Amino acid sequence: TRRTPFIAGNWKMNLDHLQAVAFVQKLHWTLKDAGHETDTVEVGLFPPFTDLRTVQTLVDADKIPFALGAQDVSAHDSGPYTGEISGAFLAKLECRYVIIGHSERRQYHGETDEIVASKVAAALRHGLVPVICVGETAEDLETHGASAVPVAQLEKALAGLASGSEVVVAYEPVWAIGSGQAATADQAQEVCAKLRAVVGDALGADAAARTRVLYGGSVKSGNIARFMREPDVDGALVGGASLVVDEFAAIIRYQK
Ligand code: G3H
Repeated sequence: TRRTPFIAGNWKMNLDHLQAVAFVQKLHWTLKDAGHETDTVEVGLFPPFTDLRTVQTLVDADKIPFALGAQDVSAHDSGPYTGEISGAFLAKLECRYVIIGHSERRQYHGETDEIVASKVAAALRHGLVPVICVGETAEDLETHGASAVPVAQLEKALAGLASGSEVVVAYEPVWAIGSGQAATADQAQEVCAKLRAVVGDALGADAAARTRVLYGGSVKSGNIARFMREPDVDGALVGGASLVVDEFAAIIRYQK
């Protein structure tokens, strides 16, 4: 199965809706000027909630070929949940994706594997593709090795889903996020292959062959090619480097 590579930019809490317009236009023109062929790789942007409407309008009007996603979603569909955002609202904004279980949500907002699983189910109910984030801390790495924690996290996130459900998986070692210290390509490959096997057990062999498994954690233009050469790494979830137009464009235009 050929999987379309996916380069996803998680803006985290950066770029307001005015800055977002300038950024998206500049990224689009930078890629155009470079003669980038848009069907070789899928580009996803994950702005803050308050930017989504503006970015959606812009990509629609200018036919900019970027997929949109949110950084989180409520486990609930509607009702008395102050501050929460329903997957139904995101779907109406033409979001195709939503990040779920990012380590920053797990760390700072107490998101447990149970909460992550209910958010994954909510995303799928609304026709969104969950980008499920898993990864080990430095301490986990030392005591259990690289793959035990991410594998267990993904098993819990996928438990009970219908076979064939469409998901994206992002392997993000917590110690590699924002640290400048990316995992080696070997480690990324080893863990991503195990995560693909978890998808196979939970969702079936076809889903495993189709599912994009991304690496995230200090991805830059200088190391992206290394990861993309690995057979089970289908793309990257990029934080810091996704906020710099030239750098993100260079990541999108990686050469194997
Ligand atoms: O979601 C993105 C990851 O947390 C990676 O962030 O590229 O700044 O290390 P980073």
